[in-house]
Amino acid sequence: MSKKIFYPATERNKPHILKVLQNHLNETQPGNLLEIASGTGQHVSFFAPHFPSIQFQPSEYDGSLLKSIKAFIEDTATKNIRPPLEIDVTTKSKTWNLPVEKFDYLLNVNMVHISPYKCTEGLFQNAGDVLKDDGLMIMYGPYANNGVIEPQSNIDFDRGLRSQNPEWGLRDIEDLKVLADKVGIKLLKVYDLPSNNKCLVWVKIAY
Ligand SMILES: C[S@@+](CC[C@H](N)C(=O)[O-])C[C@H]1O[C@@H](n2cnc3c(N)ncnc32)[C@H](O)[C@@H]1O
Repeated sequence: MSKKIFYPATERNKPHILKVLQNHLNETQPGNLLEIASGTGQHVSFFAPHFPSIQFQPSEYDGSLLKSIKAFIEDTATKNIRPPLEIDVTTKSKTWNLPVEKFDYLLNVNMVHISPYKCTEGLFQNAGDVLKDDGLMIMYGPYANNGVIEPQSNIDFDRGLRSQNPEWGLRDIEDLKVLADKVGIKLLKVYDLPSNNKCLVWVKIAY
């Protein structure tokens, strides 16, 4: 029996995220992409064949999902996905056994609002360490902006998350900018995507 797990939301959002990746990933240059919180592996197996020059490194905090990620990798036509690593983003990247020291790209989808804030902090701190100069971090999800959550469906979603776990909830782009600033990362572009989600594209500044 297939070990693949399918999240419906991930199936729905993957073509929209792909368009953003196609705007920012260099399809002609060799490169390395690290995904934090790969979930089931649906995203990495869908994205990787579009970028054969880029090596994708999936990772997941929940060890029970690694079998699903591996099953997706096995069925991917291209061979540019490395075996998944078990990574807790609140730990230091030097303990992660990464295959390369620095990455061109970091991808993080639908994690920061469904995990404690220390995961958001860990994501930015580690992005500062693992991204090359001029490297990009691409995040996807629903966000607050300057204290405002829009529309009502996102307000309701935020309330629902916080009632499930008081440490969860939509993150504010202004707070993310503060975390980013501490590690030399700047917000490059914000994409408004369907279902009131956004892609945030961050760049590590070369000093
Ligand atoms: C809603 S799922 C999104 C999964 C996948 N990115 C997707 O879009 O299908 C949230 C993910 O955040 C991960 N997560 C929670 N805490 C984490 C941590 N401390 N470090 C890394 N990932 C974490 C969960 O294991 C889960 O895979």
